[in-house]
Amino acid sequence: MKNVDVLVIGAGAAGLMCAIEAGKRGRSVVVVDHSDKPAEKIRISGGGRCNFTNIHTSPENFLSQNKRFCVSALKRYTQHDFIEMVNHHEISWHEKTLGQLFCDESSFQIIDMLLDECDAADVTIRLNTEISNIIRRDDGGFDVTTRTGAQWTCASLVVACGGLSIPKIGATGFGYQIARQFGLNIIPTRAALVPLTFDPELRAQMGQLSGISVDAVVQCNKKQFREGLLFTHRGLSGPSILQISSYCDEGDGIVVNLNPEEDAFDLLKSAKSETPKQAVHTVLSRILPNRLAQMITARHDLERPIGETGDKALRKLAMDVNQWAVMPNGTEGYRTAEVTIGGVDTNELSSKTMECRSVPGLYFIGEVVDVTGHLGGFNFQWAWSSGWSAGQVV
Ligand code: FDA
Repeated sequence: MKNVDVLVIGAGAAGLMCAIEAGKRGRSVVVVDHSDKPAEKIRISGGGRCNFTNIHTSPENFLSQNKRFCVSALKRYTQHDFIEMVNHHEISWHEKTLGQLFCDESSFQIIDMLLDECDAADVTIRLNTEISNIIRRDDGGFDVTTRTGAQWTCASLVVACGGLSIPKIGATGFGYQIARQFGLNIIPTRAALVPLTFDPELRAQMGQLSGISVDAVVQCNKKQFREGLLFTHRGLSGPSILQISSYCDEGDGIVVNLNPEEDAFDLLKSAKSETPKQAVHTVLSRILPNRLAQMITARHDLERPIGETGDKALRKLAMDVNQWAVMPNGTEGYRTAEVTIGGVDTNELSSKTMECRSVPGLYFIGEVVDVTGHLGGFNFQWAWSSGWSAGQVV
């Protein structure tokens, strides 16, 4: 039985940050991960360039049953603190859009930075290590056994196993399983920041649009986002759709404005008097990609000159441009989702330290907690901030 001060389960963004901070304080720290590589999600993030934070990070960028829970950690370790670490390691970066910061070169730079910091703080990382048993001792410490029979005893146990998205690269529900073992409440989980899918009939109609992207406003449940929208073989994707997916429950419809800059009815009405011989789809293609204009016009059976088309029909057509009501039949699920909504109920945890109120010495950080960021670097910032906060006290 090896004795350490802190055992962290999960060598991802949150787990490594927590380990670094605890190590810097002189605590002996071991991080275990069942994967053969650390930080796989950092590697694949941001298209390989890791959108590591967002300069506009604020509590409004997060979903949780308790919207105030993230405030303390985000204040104590901010986006500027993380940028300082990145600068200290001389990693060059750029703002892509909307405050989103990416590495100029590669997400491996962020992984290497974290591993270098772990090294400097004397943190031990054990990969290919699966936990089979966790027991809380009467003195408050934990005995942790691996599948190969190795045993650790630790004063602080930090659960940083992440969420359920992308099982192919090692996501599991182990963090939730540990929470259940200790009787903690879990807010139901679902895939978020995820493409939406169409039923077979709509898919057949829209499939031809695959690859087309537009600047769109997408609305659901009183929330709206204006960003890119992409038609796919299965349904809709792109940043605006990923963002709104976090706010859509099963069975919710969305409303899409396919050209927020133009009022389609105004355009159609004036074209009717100015260029009556022009086909309806030709007029519509002034404000929409041609294939999209053709498809919408065909759906309304308006393949004729605009001068021969009644105002009522034009109004209905315009609605499908500026207020297209879409009913997705679901999402692409955890297979492609960037994050998992829900998780360990924040009421179970201290917002300052992430320690479990009913089980002193047990901590939950990162995505396993019911705090989920918008798209744009916010989820990593939550991982850094919550990991840092726990790292000050474990
Ligand atoms: P994370 O998932 O990073 O780490 C969990 C670790 O626990 C993993 O190493 C895993 O192997 C390990 N683990 C799981 N089960 C275990 C078990 N049973 N035993 C031992 N170890 C176990 N966010 C952002 O802000 N900017 C971005 O650019 C992106 N891009 C992005 C792209 C894609 C494709 C995805 C899927 C996700 C993103 N994200 C993102 C989201 C971001 O990656 C995510 O929110 C953080 O990685 C969460 O950090 P955690 O440390 O909590 O979990």
